[in-house]
Amino acid sequence: GLAGNSLAKEHVETQFKEEYFHFSNTENAESTLSIIVMGASGDLARKKIFPALFALFYEDHLPESFTVFGYGRHEMSDVELRNMICRTLTCRIDQRESCHVKMDEFLKRCFYHSGQYSSEEHFSELDNKLKEKEGQRLSNRLFYLSVPPSVFVDVVRCAKRCTSSENGWTRFIVEKPFGHDSESSRDLTKSLKQYLTEEQIFRIDHHLNKELVENLLVLRFSNIFFEPLWYRNYIRNVQLIFSEDFGTEGQGRYFDNYGIIRDIIQNHLLQILALFAMETPVSLNAEDIRNEKVKVLHSMRTLRLEDVVLGQYKGFSDGSTSYPAYADDPAVPNNSLTPTFAAATFFINNARWDGVPFLLVAGKALHSRRAEIRVQFRHVPGNLYNQKFGTDLDKATNELVLRVQPDEAIYLKINKKVPGLGMRLDSSDLNFLHRARYPREIPDAYERLLLDSIEGEQHLFIRSDELDAVWSLFSPLLKELEEKKVAPELYRCGSGGPIGLHYLAAKHNVHYT
Ligand code: NDP
Ligand code: BG6
Repeated sequence: GLAGNSLAKEHVETQFKEEYFHFSNTENAESTLSIIVMGASGDLARKKIFPALFALFYEDHLPESFTVFGYGRHEMSDVELRNMICRTLTCRIDQRESCHVKMDEFLKRCFYHSGQYSSEEHFSELDNKLKEKEGQRLSNRLFYLSVPPSVFVDVVRCAKRCTSSENGWTRFIVEKPFGHDSESSRDLTKSLKQYLTEEQIFRIDHHLNKELVENLLVLRFSNIFFEPLWYRNYIRNVQLIFSEDFGTEGQGRYFDNYGIIRDIIQNHLLQILALFAMETPVSLNAEDIRNEKVKVLHSMRTLRLEDVVLGQYKGFSDGSTSYPAYADDPAVPNNSLTPTFAAATFFINNARWDGVPFLLVAGKALHSRRAEIRVQFRHVPGNLYNQKFGTDLDKATNELVLRVQPDEAIYLKINKKVPGLGMRLDSSDLNFLHRARYPREIPDAYERLLLDSIEGEQHLFIRSDELDAVWSLFSPLLKELEEKKVAPELYRCGSGGPIGLHYLAAKHNVHYT
């Protein structure tokens, strides 16, 4: 009865807690960790990196001995940095009562050093400060490059020469964008590898660190009933959808140089596609997983103009509310052709996926915020029950949905009988809603990626050959779009995107919802 239920609940919570904490404090007590945030005054550092570091500290995931150093050209005292961190703390932890005490403890370990990104002298000064805090212990150093890509190589050069740990590891978390096309990406890789080994480079794709994306592999490889169906004979199409209900305000300058294909599809969605479609890896270690991802990327067909639909949002006003167009942003040229929406169909030329369309959709200023992986299965052969659905046979298609955000969930659409006399069929969801089963909040993607880089776990980071394989799928198309000045189709903000999306979906027999 009730007692049994509460025992079971307690067991689940304890088990969850153990799993959740299994990375805790694995560093040796004699070692110390320095985390150096380059570009500490920037948007990403304030929004994501400091809050994630604090959440890790709050939950006892950081080693006993650690310090955080901010670095940048801004003049800032330690106290000013601490005030900045304090003001911008917006993580899931800040609601807790004990937060203030822990916050003070965390802030005491935060310091700032002002310097240029290309000055070896300034990095040597930083090295002295680091050594002062580290003392005689084994020191590990993690650099987070939260700076524009134009200074990545300078920072790595100076840090390698002047602030590498002498007795522990030195690692670098690198933020996107990793180049603009195949050539610039290769140049960046070559420059970084002048100073670093692949094992020291942690290229982020923060969507890989989302709970449901990690769960994708567990779902696929630890349940008997998914993997046998993960095949062209059963899967009709796969849709990866990323939509935001806000535009590019504040990001205009960056965005106009990149566009939605480079901002979302080339990285976040392609990474998920590779995980989704890869063959079973030999093991869960980083090299085995990344080897399989590279193979599937090499089996994919390069994107062509006829495979894509592009859109750009236009303004909207209905008297009471108004929303500016993308091109109204002062940081964006009025005649910009940069797409804020793109849909693309990919095909994988291998035995598992031959002929199965993968429809990838990404857009800004759409009607909803969602990221989903949708797998539509084929119709059941024969028509024993089909007429019971009326004419809309798509309703009878089984569908598996992984809702990555918001409100994480996994659900499976199945067909069943409507209760009562007669025989009417209906499609319902077998629904696993995360928050209903696990009341604890889900850690932010940045917490996971910081923890993985501290642990040296690279399976959710992008290897250079993967990056190269991904860029080669996009580079010819991106070049063609720029040369031919292909104009995106305008769509109203708050809508479902350009009409062309529905034509593209229909061309490949994809039921897009
Ligand atoms: P910012 O433009 O805010 O820059 C971060 C810091 O870098 C600034 O505070 C500044 O510090 C320094 N900086 C800025 N411009 C230059 C320049 N031209 N030359 C040298 N230093 C400069 O960037 P974000 O914080 O938004 O992003 C940091 C990195 O993360 C970038 O690579 C970005 O592409 C990536 N990224 C950001 C996301 C976000 O949500 N913001 C999301 C995904 C990736 P100072 O003046 O003190 O040196
Ligand atoms: C970033 C993109 O990589 O991801 C942004 O540059 C986008 O344009 C953001 O808004 C979305 O991240 P999330 O975690 O909210 O899905």
